[in-house]
Amino acid sequence: MSAKIKVGVVGCGTVAELYYLAGIRNHSTADLTAVCDVVSDRAEQAARKYGASSWFSDLDRMLAEADLDAVLVLTQHKHHYENAMKVLKAGKHLAIEKPLAESFDQARQIVELAETSGLKLSAAPPSVLDPVTVRIRELIRDGAVGKISHVIWHASGSGPARRANWGFTDQTWFYQRHAGPMSSLGPYALTSLTWFLGPVLRVAALSGISISERIAAAGPTEGRPFATTAPDNNLVLLDWGEGTFGSLDVGYCAVASKGPQGQFFGDEGVLAVNGGTGADCIEVYRQDEGSGVSGWLAAGSPNLGGGFTIATTITHLVDCIFEDRQPETSGRHALHVSEIMETAARSADSGVFLETTTRI
Ligand SMILES: NC(=O)c1ccc[n+]([C@@H]2O[C@H](COP(=O)([O-])OP(=O)(O)OC[C@H]3O[C@@H](n4cnc5c(N)ncnc54)[C@H](O)[C@@H]3O)[C@@H](O)[C@H]2O)c1
Repeated sequence: MSAKIKVGVVGCGTVAELYYLAGIRNHSTADLTAVCDVVSDRAEQAARKYGASSWFSDLDRMLAEADLDAVLVLTQHKHHYENAMKVLKAGKHLAIEKPLAESFDQARQIVELAETSGLKLSAAPPSVLDPVTVRIRELIRDGAVGKISHVIWHASGSGPARRANWGFTDQTWFYQRHAGPMSSLGPYALTSLTWFLGPVLRVAALSGISISERIAAAGPTEGRPFATTAPDNNLVLLDWGEGTFGSLDVGYCAVASKGPQGQFFGDEGVLAVNGGTGADCIEVYRQDEGSGVSGWLAAGSPNLGGGFTIATTITHLVDCIFEDRQPETSGRHALHVSEIMETAARSADSGVFLETTTRI
C-alpha cells in the first residue's frame, strides 16, 4: 500500500467546502486525489483550492480514470444510493454523508454490497467518535444516573435555508420531497441515542408540514419564496424495551431553543446534554442525602471535543484502511438509523406503533 490513501470526493458543495476538503488535505495519511461535481466550475475550483490532482464533472469518469482507494459521497440525498452503489461496484471503499440512502431498502443494498465486496463503509454522522458523545455514553454505561426511564431529545433547528452566510449552493432542496429534516437532522440524534441506549425496538410518530412556504436567506435563490414539500415537523416516540422510552423532535420549525438539547432521566439522577464543548456541556444531577452531595455537577471537561468535525467520517475511513479494521462509523449502525426513520414515516401514515427488525 502506498504511503497515503488516495481519496476522491463526489459533490463539492456546502459541506465539502466547510469541512471535508480541508479535513482530507490536512490529514497526514490522506491524499486528495480527485474531486467531482456535476457543476464543473465547482469541481475545478475545489481542485485548485485544496490541491486535488484531477477534477471531473462525471462520477463514472472519475471512477474509471482516477487512481483511488476510497470515495466520499457528499451529494444531495436523492443521489446517495446511485453514487454509493457506483463507488462500491468500482471496488472503492466508501465514506458517505447522512442519510445512507433515501430508503431503508436502498440503505440495506449499500451495506450488503460493501460487506459482500469486502469494502469498508464509513457512514456519517461520526458521532460515535465525538469526545462529547463518548463521554455521555461512558456516564450512562457506568450508571451515573442509574436505570433510565426516559430521554427527551431536541433535534429541531431552523433549517439550512434560513442560515445567512452559510451555503453558496441552493439549500432549498433540504425542504423538498426526497429530503426533509428527518433525513438531515434525524441521523445525528438517532445515531447518538441508539449508541447510548442500544437499538430501538418500536417507533411511533407524528409528521406534517407546518411552514408551507419559506424564503431562502442565502445562496443563489436568496430572497425567493419556495414551497416546503417534505414533512418539516416530526415528533417521534421511541421504545427501547424494559420501560425505557424516548421522545424526539426533528423539524425545521424551531427558530431557536433554550435549555438542554437532551435529558436522560434515571432512577438515581438526571444527565443533561447542553451542547457546546465546555466543561458544562454535560451535567449530571445527583441526589445523595447520605454523602451530602446533591445538585447539578459539570461532567464534561474544558474544550471537550473542541477540534472535532464531521470530516472524521472520511479521516476515520482512511485510518481504518491503513490499519485494516472496520470503521466504528458502521454501515450496520446507519442501517438501523435508516430503519427507524422509515418506520417513523410509516407510523405517521398509519397511526400505529411499528416494530423495527435491524440491530446495531
Ligand atoms: N448543508 C449542511 O448544513 C450539511 C451539514 C452536514 C451534512 N450535510 C450533508 O452533506 C451532504 C451534501 O449537502 P450539502 O449541503 O453540501 O449539499 P449541496 O447542495 O451544497 O452540495 C451538493 C453538491 O453535489 C453536487 N452533485 C449532485 N449530484 C452529483 C453527481 N451525481 N455527481 C457529482 N456531483 C453531484 C451538486 O452539484 C452540489 O455541488 C448531504 O448528505 C447533507 O445531508 C449537509
